[in-house]
Amino acid sequence: MMMSLFLPLLLVSVLFMNSFSEVRGRKWKGEGTTQNLESIAIGRCYDYIRIVNPAVGEKNCSEIWEAFKSAFINKDPCSILPEDYELFINLSLHTIPANKSLFWENNQLLVNSFADRGRRYMSVGDTLFGFFGDFLNWCGQANSSGLDYESCPTTMECETNAVDSFWRMASITYAKHSSGEIHVLLNGSAVGGAYPQPSFFADYEIPNLQKDKISQVVIWVVDDIEGPDLDSCGIHSVKTLETRLKTLGYNVTCTDNYKSVVFLLCLDYPDNSKCALPSSAPAGQRGPISSDRGGSWNKLMFVSFVGFLFRFALV
Ligand SMILES: *[C@@H]1O[C@H](CO)[C@@H](O)[C@H](O)[C@H]1NC(C)=O
Ligand SMILES: *[C@@H]1O[C@H](CO)[C@@H](O)[C@H](O)[C@H]1NC(C)=O
Ligand SMILES: *[C@@H]1O[C@H](CO)[C@@H](O)[C@H](O)[C@H]1NC(C)=O
Ligand SMILES: *[C@@H]1O[C@H](CO)[C@@H](O)[C@H](O)[C@H]1NC(C)=O
Ligand SMILES: *[C@@H]1O[C@H](CO)[C@@H](O)[C@H](O)[C@H]1NC(C)=O
Ligand SMILES: *[C@@H]1O[C@H](CO)[C@@H](O)[C@H](O)[C@H]1NC(C)=O
Repeated sequence: MMMSLFLPLLLVSVLFMNSFSEVRGRKWKGEGTTQNLESIAIGRCYDYIRIVNPAVGEKNCSEIWEAFKSAFINKDPCSILPEDYELFINLSLHTIPANKSLFWENNQLLVNSFADRGRRYMSVGDTLFGFFGDFLNWCGQANSSGLDYESCPTTMECETNAVDSFWRMASITYAKHSSGEIHVLLNGSAVGGAYPQPSFFADYEIPNLQKDKISQVVIWVVDDIEGPDLDSCGIHSVKTLETRLKTLGYNVTCTDNYKSVVFLLCLDYPDNSKCALPSSAPAGQRGPISSDRGGSWNKLMFVSFVGFLFRFALV
């Protein structure tokens, strides 16, 4: 008797508490602020200026954090404008080396590996301001100095949310400060085309490029190794992009499946035929000759190894 009363009661109270906390906590459909946001952002900032790219010089990362927070704290989370991040940008801005800019759409993880934290190219995520917010989520609340860890508005709920406005401002700033030969890495397997519209690249980056500082726009359209070839240079959306840039007066080149990027993708598909390296010897010369090469290589390795051991023994 007790049991049969207790169970439904428990269920009802659990259901009630669930909907109660939902009403109280979740105002929006999107994910809430990333836990430990302040520590992550300030830590990333010092990592960037001390280790990743000391060339940016001395910055006050606490001051940068305060400027970042002031863009969205104590405000309606759907009324944040790109300009609200102006002080943050002013404090975190640094030179983007000529010829190193790398724009992209629909291949963020590939771009992260390819750019190599600014060593090979410097995508927006490899600048101090982009590095600061990469992969994080955040928003504040009206009439409260706290962050909302329960939920934040999605782009569908409002475009003028804290995160989207941040990336708009970052993209605008990045484009304005890019110079020399600039690069665009697009995904030839992306549904809807390699050059999406609307997109950050189409709407905030292209319009903010400084024509007199840019010598050439290099477009790379790379398909996934095991993905469909949906878009390429000279057709569909890539043609639209090439035409737009040429009309704006840029010197444009476009390459399909640029080798360096394909090599990187091939790390995960070493046995795919697209990843086969051409044999070092012509087909007719295979056999004894190539095994002899292998032999001298092995001998060289052995000699180097013995040399290494010898030096090791001396130390
Ligand atoms: C860095 O900025 C913070 C916050 O604005 C300030 O309190 C601190 O004194 C500054 N530190 C230095 C070394 O300037
Ligand atoms: C940011 O820097 C620009 C250019 O130096 C300046 O005009 C603007 O007032 C600064 N904005 C803020 C909020 O500090
Ligand atoms: C950028 O590339 C151009 C040629 O494409 C070269 O003349 C120039 O020196 C390069 N600039 C830097 C900073 O490497
Ligand atoms: C390219 O786009 C496809 C389809 O959206 C996606 O599955 C794939 O991961 C993207 N490729 C890269 C390298 O990000
Ligand atoms: C915030 O405070 C203002 C002024 O006190 C008030 O008009 C507004 O309705 C409040 N907003 C929220 C979301 O509570
Ligand atoms: C475009 O750039 C290429 C490579 O730097 C150069 O050879 C060519 O002359 C340039 N074309 C124009 C129209 O400037």
